Amino acid sequence: MRLVLLGPPGAGKGTQAEKLSVYFGIPRISTGDILRHNVAQNTELGKKAKSYMDSGQLVPDDLVVKMVEHRLKESDARKGFILDGFPRTIAQADALLKMTKIDAVLSFFLEPEELIKRNTGRRVCPKDDTVYHVLMNPPKKPGVCDKCGTALIVRADDREDVVRKRIETYEKQTAPLIKYYRDRGMFREVYATGLIEEIFLRAVEALKA
Ligand code: AP5
Repeated sequence: MRLVLLGPPGAGKGTQAEKLSVYFGIPRISTGDILRHNVAQNTELGKKAKSYMDSGQLVPDDLVVKMVEHRLKESDARKGFILDGFPRTIAQADALLKMTKIDAVLSFFLEPEELIKRNTGRRVCPKDDTVYHVLMNPPKKPGVCDKCGTALIVRADDREDVVRKRIETYEKQTAPLIKYYRDRGMFREVYATGLIEEIFLRAVEALKA
């Protein structure tokens, strides 16, 4: 299964990608997580990406395409993968089609006000990237990752003004991919409201259709 997850910031792509990754036994490849680790380690890529990420803009296509190309060559991606957050522009989608075949694109849909609530309440584990929400998906012990015990952090781009900018960026630069993939017969839409488990079942059903 070679899967692309599409959807605005906070729609639940990362949360569902984790579950789908376990279900299908294939890796989740999150461009956001890879970029954030590069920023944290202050790599050359991280230095170039940081200002775009902090202001809710997309990192330039050439940097992200090279990064994904490299990641897809790793051995665990041979049996399939879930791309979470890539592609995000038509140029990235064109580049991806040259790299590999894609079986389906799952697009998660949610209203903007709900997106704001999900992003501003998010907490993440900087070590294993597990995602929580202070109210809607809390860890067992407040402020601590259930899996590895690391202190949770707030993402630098989860401030409300930056979240609004990220939603705007999605509408302008990424939403055109809906038509792109619909035209190629790969597009499946999943309504992303409700319990995490319900949405997961919807996603699995959409993949059977
Ligand atoms: P990225 O990390 O990909 O961020 P995003 O696309 O904005 O998506 P999010 O991670 O914010 O949300 P999500 O949909 O994964 O939701 P989540 O599951 O966390 O990208 C960050 C930045 O990196 C970009 O702005 C850009 O600068 C750069 N970048 C990345 N990829 C790029 C690319 N391809 N090209 C160029 N630049 C790129 O859930 C959100 C919250 O809701 C969590 O708290 C979660 O616990 C909660 N939640 C989830 N599901 C539910 C539910 N059903 N009910 C209640 N709460 C829920």
